[in-house]
Amino acid sequence: MSNSKVANSGKDATSAYNVEAVRAQFPIFEREIDGQPLHYLDNAATAQTPRAVLDAVAVHDSRHRANVMRSIHHLAEEATEAFEAARGQVAQFLNATSPTEIVFTSGTTGAINLVAHAFGGTLQPGDEVVISQVEHHSNIVPWQMVRDRIGITLRVLSASADGAVDLAALQAIVTPRTKLIAVTHGSNVSGAMTNVAPIVAAARAVGAKVLLDGAQRAPHGPIDVQALGVDFYGFSSHKTFGPNGVGVLWGRSEVLDALPPFMGGGEMIRTVTLDETIYAEPPHRFEAGTPPIAQAVGLGAALAWLCAQDLTGAARHEQRLTGRLIDGLDDIDNNRGLIRLIGPRELDNRLPVVSFAIEGLHPHDICQLLDGHGVALRGGHHCAQPLMDFFGLTGTTRASVALYNNDGDVDAFLNGLDDVIKLLKP
Ligand SMILES: Cc1ncc(COP(=O)(O)O)c(C=O)c1O
Repeated sequence: MSNSKVANSGKDATSAYNVEAVRAQFPIFEREIDGQPLHYLDNAATAQTPRAVLDAVAVHDSRHRANVMRSIHHLAEEATEAFEAARGQVAQFLNATSPTEIVFTSGTTGAINLVAHAFGGTLQPGDEVVISQVEHHSNIVPWQMVRDRIGITLRVLSASADGAVDLAALQAIVTPRTKLIAVTHGSNVSGAMTNVAPIVAAARAVGAKVLLDGAQRAPHGPIDVQALGVDFYGFSSHKTFGPNGVGVLWGRSEVLDALPPFMGGGEMIRTVTLDETIYAEPPHRFEAGTPPIAQAVGLGAALAWLCAQDLTGAARHEQRLTGRLIDGLDDIDNNRGLIRLIGPRELDNRLPVVSFAIEGLHPHDICQLLDGHGVALRGGHHCAQPLMDFFGLTGTTRASVALYNNDGDVDAFLNGLDDVIKLLKP
């Protein structure tokens, strides 16, 4: 079945979006892979970094490098200023009420583990945390660890047939013992977005908190945590056009204020004696040790860069490419029932992440053969084994689009896949 809503050529209403001008800002696309252009469709794993971000990090490290919030000298003050300015950029990106709601972490995984330790440590045996079958392992394993440490009960929302968090059983799963609902904002496997409002309403009805894993949503533009009405939001810099090694936990002020620290060490304290410690206020209470300073500065630059792009045009462009990917899979399949799309067919309210399975072909083999066409994909369980179990698969092949991908990338993928299938499934 072809998706009729989508034009199947590079030239349509979205042509006003100048993808080549965006792409030209990414030095990585100057390189070739075995003599072929790079067709990078593994953005859900890690996005590429524009020159503006590479420069911001290089300038920081070559001109302003020092530790933050410690020494009284020129460089230390500049470094602290740049680090705190980055916090301000993140606050703006998330529409936080204050930069003090922004905690720098190592990534989404670091953000969720922080909540699992700090908030999880306040839970009592028998309290309940709700997750879903759609989650990345980083929003499953930390809660299993809390369960095993404290004796809480984990309750799980199922996946729907198109790989979204299924809310049909929400009212039954959320109980007066629920203390937190921790779910993804959008799936890294299916691309399905989560319907957040009913989750927040169900949580509020029993006084529970809500955590959203925003790893896959953040690369697509600003997020309004206040409008979402959640309590915690996490995302990773490296998926959002920034450097590796840094990420964000946003926490509602009053929620962060009430939490104990996760790690102990330098800079998270007000005073220390050999007998006791008085902790600093958030966010520093949650940032023990030297933080990833240049990386945070790079993240600030990445968010500023992202917000300066034509994001409405980019969203339409990504949606059109997603439609071309889905239609192209249908065309290659040609009613043979070989290719199984894992994710919604509808293009509205979905991330540009397209997963599929081909009967009898291992995703790693597909990825390896497509790599020979210069196409970078991801194949495997995508750190979402419970979702794979739901679909009765061990893995999928995933093509994920960012705002710099063009029709040439989609063509290379579809032509390459067609060749692979002709070769392996004649
Ligand atoms: C939905 C989702 N959550 C969490 C993560 C973990 O992100 P990180 O490895 O950057 O901590 C990922 C990474 O793929 C993801 O896709």
